[in-house]
Amino acid sequence: MSRTVVVTGASSGIGRAAARMFAARGDRLVLAARSPGTLAEVRDECRAAGAQVLDVPVDITVEGAPAALADAAVERFGGIDVWVHTAAVMVYGRFEETPQRVFEHVVRTDLLGAAAVARAALERFRAAGGGTLVLTGSVLGHITAPYLSAYVVSKWGLQGLTRVLQQEARETPGVHVCIVNPGSVDTPVYQRAANYLGRTGRPPLPVATPERVARAVVDCADRPRREVSVGRANVVMRVGFTALPGVYDALVGPLMRLAGLTDRPVAPHDGVVFAPDPASAAVRGGWLPDLGRVVRAVGGLPGPVLAAARKRPR
Ligand SMILES: NC(=O)c1ccc[n+]([C@@H]2O[C@H](COP(=O)([O-])OP(=O)(O)OC[C@H]3O[C@@H](n4cnc5c(N)ncnc54)[C@H](OP(=O)(O)O)[C@@H]3O)[C@@H](O)[C@H]2O)c1
Repeated sequence: MSRTVVVTGASSGIGRAAARMFAARGDRLVLAARSPGTLAEVRDECRAAGAQVLDVPVDITVEGAPAALADAAVERFGGIDVWVHTAAVMVYGRFEETPQRVFEHVVRTDLLGAAAVARAALERFRAAGGGTLVLTGSVLGHITAPYLSAYVVSKWGLQGLTRVLQQEARETPGVHVCIVNPGSVDTPVYQRAANYLGRTGRPPLPVATPERVARAVVDCADRPRREVSVGRANVVMRVGFTALPGVYDALVGPLMRLAGLTDRPVAPHDGVVFAPDPASAAVRGGWLPDLGRVVRAVGGLPGPVLAAARKRPR
């Protein structure tokens, strides 16, 4: 049975991958992010897959914007069955070197924006007698790492908010609140982050594909679960953080500098924190080889090359 699915953060990364998956299943989509041009591209991708789509450019930090988005979805499709929220921004920098205006806007987007979206979704779900909200947290909602203070604060806050919403949702059968917590994912969020550290960030290994996280999101929409972790190292990091805090704190700085930052120097900038950058929006961030593209490229090799390869003795 097809559903109406709202995706906030649909223009890039995990949200865009999830939008494509819902579209392929025949769901009706309401797509939201700040950049109208990128959103129109995703709308066309999803329509090409056969989905009915409404695209609504929205900045979730603007008061009333998530509620207006919910109204637009209800007006177009008559209701909302699932709301997937993936919109977020990041800033790299030591806490005291991160400008206060940037710190506060990351929290405004990642925590208060998510709360505004949750409020808009849950009001509609309550009135309709059901619905599923899928939030996107992070393993950094359970552990901490240096140079990401605003993001970590937001994700810890979101984790707490989610638990409260899950407890309150027990009073309204049919209303579900889920959180998907990825580790590192191959999306452009690292290149799009504001930076006051002097070195560009990167996802530490192991890196999951955005499609893998999107599958977890779609699974939650089908069979709601409280919390889903995606990332092979998440459990190890959480155990280390909780059971051996002294060892964890001694190791996390050097490991972050080694695996979580590139050597590429970068001048201070605000990234996409205050305004979108359509050029950098994409499903993949280019941190992993795109195996689909490799297979297609090999499939496109001239016949004689493939024939010669097949003839090679084993
Ligand atoms: N990538 C990772 O390694 C990773 C790991 C753990 C958790 N996560 C979480 O996964 C979620 C998705 O991240 P991603 O990696 O897919 O990031 P991404 O590729 O940068 O996508 C972020 C999306 O949020 C939208 N957005 C940002 N600010 C917004 C605002 N004020 N209003 C409306 N939309 C806004 C962006 O579009 P516009 O710029 O056009 O607004 C974009 O569509 C986030 O919650 C992130 O924290 C990611």
